[in-house]
Amino acid sequence: MAASDFENGRAGSSASTAAAALDFERFLARLLVVPVVEIARVQDAVPLARALLEGGLPCAEITFRTASAAQAIEAIATSVPEIRVGAGTVLDPSQAQAALDAGASFLVAPGFDPAVVEFALAHGVPLVPGVCTPTEVGMALARGLSLLKLFPAEAAGGVGYLKALAAPFGDVRFVPTGGIGPDNLAAYLAIRQVIACGGSWMVKKDLIAAGAFDTIRELAAQARTIADAARPAAT
Ligand code: 3PG
Repeated sequence: MAASDFENGRAGSSASTAAAALDFERFLARLLVVPVVEIARVQDAVPLARALLEGGLPCAEITFRTASAAQAIEAIATSVPEIRVGAGTVLDPSQAQAALDAGASFLVAPGFDPAVVEFALAHGVPLVPGVCTPTEVGMALARGLSLLKLFPAEAAGGVGYLKALAAPFGDVRFVPTGGIGPDNLAAYLAIRQVIACGGSWMVKKDLIAAGAFDTIRELAAQARTIADAARPAAT
C-alpha cells in the first residue's frame, strides 16, 4: 500500500486496515529490529536512512520529538523508497495526520491513546500503541489491536516482566522498546511473542549530529547479525 492510499476515504475499511496491519507484521517479523530515530536537522535524514539500509535495517521510525520529524519522513519517503519509514512518539491525531501527509507508512505511540488509535483505524494505517500493563493490553485487544509496543521495556522489568505480561495473551505480538541494545537484544528475541525490538542504540543523537553515518551503518549491521542469529528462521 502506498502512502497516498491513506488519503481521505481511500483506506480505512476494516478489510484494508487488516491487510495493512498483516503486511506490516510480516515486515517486522523479518526486520526484527526497528531503529527509533530522533532527527534534529532535516539534512541528516537521507544519509541516515541510507546508512540503515546499507546496514541491513530497511526501516526508520522517526520520532515526533523534534520539529523536523515530518520533513525528515518526507525526505526519506521521497529519496530512499527502499526503506519503510514511519512515525514514532505520536501523541495526538494532528501528529498522526502530519506523519501520513509526509509519507509515513506506520505509526508508533508511547502509550495507548484512544484518539490516536481511532485515527489509525479510520485511516487504515498500521499503529503500534504503547502498553505497559495487562489492563492496557486488554484495552488494545478490545479495539482489535494485537501488535503492541512494550514501553519502557527495561525500566518496566525487562525480559522477565515481558514474559509474565505476555503469558495470558497468546495472540499478542510485542515490540519491546526502551533500554534495548546489543547486550540484551537476543534475550528479547528469544521470547516467542516478540516480533521485533525497537531501539535507538544504533542511531544515537550524537552520532547523527556528528555525521557518523559509517558508524551508524556498522551498528545497524551488528544489530542485523545479532537478530539473525537469535531468529534464524526469520532470515
Ligand atoms: C522510544 O521512543 O521508543 C524510546 O525512547 C527508544 O528507547 P531507547 O532510546 O532506550 O532505545
